[in-house]
Amino acid sequence: TWTMVNIVDEQVERIRTQIGEKRAICALSGGVDSAVAGALVQRAIGSQLTCVFVDHGLLRKGEVEQVEKDFVAATGAQLRVVEAQDQFLAALEGVSEPEEKRRIIGREFIRIFERTARELVAESDAAGQDVEFLVQGTLYPDVVESGGGNGTANIKSHHNVGGLPEDLAFDLVEPLRELFKDEVRRVGEELGLPHDMVWRHPFPGPGLGIRIIGEVTRERLDTLREADAIAREELSRADLDGEIWQCPVVLLAGVQSVGVQGDGRTYGHPVVLRPVSSEDAMTADWSRVPYDTLATISNRITNEVGGINRVALDVTSKPPATIEWE
Ligand code: XMP
Repeated sequence: TWTMVNIVDEQVERIRTQIGEKRAICALSGGVDSAVAGALVQRAIGSQLTCVFVDHGLLRKGEVEQVEKDFVAATGAQLRVVEAQDQFLAALEGVSEPEEKRRIIGREFIRIFERTARELVAESDAAGQDVEFLVQGTLYPDVVESGGGNGTANIKSHHNVGGLPEDLAFDLVEPLRELFKDEVRRVGEELGLPHDMVWRHPFPGPGLGIRIIGEVTRERLDTLREADAIAREELSRADLDGEIWQCPVVLLAGVQSVGVQGDGRTYGHPVVLRPVSSEDAMTADWSRVPYDTLATISNRITNEVGGINRVALDVTSKPPATIEWE
């Protein structure tokens, strides 16, 4: 539409002014926001941009493949996938406290971006052309909820806003800083990103790391990834993607309960389904997902995902709860 074209043109102009002839990297998270921010900056400065996608092991099933194929096909952006699962797992070892997890994940991201920027400079023919800018898909609600705007209390340090080191080696480019999610989606469509990518449910930068209540381990991540994939598949099958803003699946790693599966006793972990409806994630209501769909999700998760013997439903709005559990 007319206004979206204007937003795109205005941002492209602003980005060109800010970055000039310099180089930038864009931190893709697999989510909508960073994809749109990346596509916008790609339109503005083309080959001066390199997108960086960190495979930190906290991703959803199929996410790396989607970025490698669909994002690159739609934007023509240069992409680097950095394999960093061991690095993140090692850094998160023994950590259960939510803000501590967020700080660690944010810190490891920045280390990787700095390392990647140095590698890019070393590889380029035009030696000496530093990568000076880091593009992030920060939205207006992120700014507010991280305490960046209007003096609001810090609720969580969204890692793409808070938690950046004082001596960050980059200047930030945040072309979505004044926008809400629905506007970002329309900008994404205007830029020609695939429908699936633009309309997919939001996913936090710290990924599955903040959906495991307790320490993050490889085995727990594998378990949660399977449960999450089942929930997403069944919600799509029931045609509920439009109605539901997102549906985190949360693994209560520190809780065990008794079950009976096959012909024996189990002592497994519960997962919690957290389907919410929302306009902008600042407030949310729990979604009234039909019982039949909940039953299918519960049956499939307990049958197909080892170690899970109970599925619970979170029926709390935001406030008083937040959408994610951490
Ligand atoms: P909460 O849990 O604060 O979440 O109600 C609001 C929205 O933000 C997403 N979220 C994040 N997104 N980095 C992000 O990019 C983060 O650190 C982060 N934490 C939460 C969450 O999924 C929801 O859509």
